[in-house]
Amino acid sequence: MTDGGPAPGLIWIVGPGRVGLSLGVALHRAGAALAFSGRGGAIPNHPLLEGDPPAARWRGGSFAAPAGLSGIVVAVPDRAVREVAGRLASADIDRSVPVVHTSGALGMEALESLRAAGHPVGGVHPLAAVADTVDGADRLRGAAFGVEGEGLARALAERVVAACGGVALPIRGGGKPLYHAAAVFASNYAVALLAVAERLMEAAGVDAEDARPALAALAEGAVANVRALGPAAALTGPVARGDDETVRLHRARLSAGVRPLYSLLGREALALAERAGLDPAAVDRVRAALGDETP
Ligand SMILES: NC(=O)c1ccc[n+]([C@@H]2O[C@H](COP(=O)([O-])OP(=O)(O)OC[C@H]3O[C@@H](n4cnc5c(N)ncnc54)[C@H](OP(=O)(O)O)[C@@H]3O)[C@@H](O)[C@H]2O)c1
Repeated sequence: MTDGGPAPGLIWIVGPGRVGLSLGVALHRAGAALAFSGRGGAIPNHPLLEGDPPAARWRGGSFAAPAGLSGIVVAVPDRAVREVAGRLASADIDRSVPVVHTSGALGMEALESLRAAGHPVGGVHPLAAVADTVDGADRLRGAAFGVEGEGLARALAERVVAACGGVALPIRGGGKPLYHAAAVFASNYAVALLAVAERLMEAAGVDAEDARPALAALAEGAVANVRALGPAAALTGPVARGDDETVRLHRARLSAGVRPLYSLLGREALALAERAGLDPAAVDRVRAALGDETP
């Protein structure tokens, strides 16, 4: 299903949290019939589950298949995915019903008990930060999703992506840890690098509150250039210019804690500069200036 239109059959979302309910909002807007279950207890306070009748069915902690079921989305915390998969695998659910999970770190092996029972299994991981159960649907609009699985599982994942107006990024079998590490580099480690940059600015005498927007704007420009040109053409700065003197000056002033990080990233940057056509003599000079220590 890639046309974004309503698909037949009900989708059961296990895990009425930030991702589960936000995907539910998107699927409801796309015309899907929905049921939710969780650990039991009180009905979550959410517009999809309010009203008479509510837009989505609430099933408490039940693992019995709802009528008209066409797919299951497991949106529980990573630590609970295997346990929920095991409970679904031993429940009385038609084996042709596909099951996908929304974890970024876990691969399809987390749904092994379901696969062994005969269910098509897969994954649909939003590359987005979802902090709220209602507004999260806006975060998901147009987002990229890492998708895994074949046949009916892929079709279910793509139905979810289409409901969000998103883009599917198919992941090769066994590739999930690398896909997730890529997301960590692009998001979490970009934040960590900006924190290092802020500390250096403060050490140079600039207030953090002035440094922060200036560095964020610099980073945003670099990211926009990567998006438009690719990393090799987007690289600027001393390594891209082959300016080994500046690299030596930086290294001489950096603390012993930060210097290895500077050099490690400098070597990644140098590979890009080489790809962009930096002349071999300058590449050698910059490589020497970066030193050979590792963190
Ligand atoms: N939030 C994000 O930005 C984001 C982005 C991409 C992917 N993901 C992935 O999406 C999944 C869900 O994350 P989330 O942020 O939506 O988590 P969350 O807000 O904590 O929601 C998890 C939901 O699952 C329920 N749950 C926990 N254990 C359960 C069990 N054994 N059986 C049934 N329901 C259970 C929780 O109920 P209780 O409240 O009762 O514990 C809660 O309603 C994770 O795999 C996460 O890695 C999250």
